[in-house]
Amino acid sequence: MWGGRFAEGPSAIMREINASIPFDKALWRQDIAASKAHVAMLGAQGIVSAGDATEIAAGLDKVAAEYEANGVPENWDLEDIHMTTESRLAELIGSVAGRLHTARSRNDQVATDFRLWVREACIQADAALGALQVALVTRAGEHAASIMPGFTHLQTAQPVTLGHHLMAYYEMVARDRSRFADAHTRMSQCPLGSVALAGTGFPIDREMTAKALDFTGPTRNSLDAVSDRDFALDYLMAATQCALHLSRLAEELIIWASQPFGFVSLPDSLSTGSSIMPQKKNPDAAELVRGHSGRIAGCLTSLMITMKGLPLAYSKDMQDDKPPVFEAAGLLTLCLAAMTGMVEGATFRTARMRQAAELGYATATDLADWLVRQANIPFREAHHITGNAVKLAEQKGVALDQLTIKDLQLIDPRIDERVYAALSVEASVAARASYGGTAPEQVRLRIAEARLALGLE
Ligand code: ARG
Repeated sequence: MWGGRFAEGPSAIMREINASIPFDKALWRQDIAASKAHVAMLGAQGIVSAGDATEIAAGLDKVAAEYEANGVPENWDLEDIHMTTESRLAELIGSVAGRLHTARSRNDQVATDFRLWVREACIQADAALGALQVALVTRAGEHAASIMPGFTHLQTAQPVTLGHHLMAYYEMVARDRSRFADAHTRMSQCPLGSVALAGTGFPIDREMTAKALDFTGPTRNSLDAVSDRDFALDYLMAATQCALHLSRLAEELIIWASQPFGFVSLPDSLSTGSSIMPQKKNPDAAELVRGHSGRIAGCLTSLMITMKGLPLAYSKDMQDDKPPVFEAAGLLTLCLAAMTGMVEGATFRTARMRQAAELGYATATDLADWLVRQANIPFREAHHITGNAVKLAEQKGVALDQLTIKDLQLIDPRIDERVYAALSVEASVAARASYGGTAPEQVRLRIAEARLALGLE
């Protein structure tokens, strides 16, 4: 395709290091679509004859049908998907195929194809995230009032509801979806027609190709358009942030599924056994979601470092943009499907969770709050009094609400019988009815809003 000025062909090493066809063949649909948009425009503008344009478009359809039926052939001599397609087109329709590359370069071609691919990946991620949200909101609805210990520092802090805990992940996923949507919006301009780097002398119509490929319009600067990979980085950043969220939920499921916790039993279909210990059921899917988040972050790092310091405009380094994006997209799709399955299929052991919420003096803050409210004691002082009560309960090996009123009054005489009503875990969660708090009534309100937003109501 470019041999004119060369006295000898590339060495075996050159062919191997240069070939991107092993991975960029994944762009074949986008490449055909962009070529068809381009040739239709060349025809409309009279840059190639209407007859040639029709012949080329029909030839491209034939190539697409072959790819669909037999896959894309991998010939390193043809370097990439662009040359592979053009060369097959020439075999099928002869020298008229050579007119397709008028007013076009592989630089604007690959920028266009890859944008189309990443744009679709954003849409797919959004759909998968929507399905995860449906699973979260459904399970949260079942457990709006199921009590579990809430943790800080992984130490029992205050009782919360499982519904509230699951809805925390709903919020993270909502932000993930908005990041993919932002990324999608920012990649809505079409690079095609920027050509090698400087535009072209042919009277092309960039609005027409942009519209045909469902972009909002053409990119405004040809140098930027052929050398910009922000869109791929935007995607990888959104994917990485999303993977980090998934890894946190995965970690919690792993901890909850362990025997000392026993908060959850994960579906058999997403667990594995041990070849030696017959009793084992391991949360491998959750562990792999946690692990894959590292690889997805690695994909982002890879492309960031590839792009760092590249001069304008195109450099061949940029060919390395695709493997990390393809890898991250594949991993993310898998992780989202696994996580959605685990959330849907998890059996939450609510009796065990409630029991755990009783341990660790989770309602100590409620005692302090009661002292502030009922005895008008400043919070700092109430905190201190409550600390003494916890110390005593610990010595006696009982829960806070098992201390007698005598015990409590020895610690502070202002405490009376009414305090017991505040010390149950139910009273504790019900009391936290501030906006966004864990009280079942609040959780149900947030779930109702979420169901509306998801179109479930
Ligand atoms: N295979 C190349 C890539 O993926 C296409 C662009 C090559 N352009 C060039 N001038 N060599 O980036």
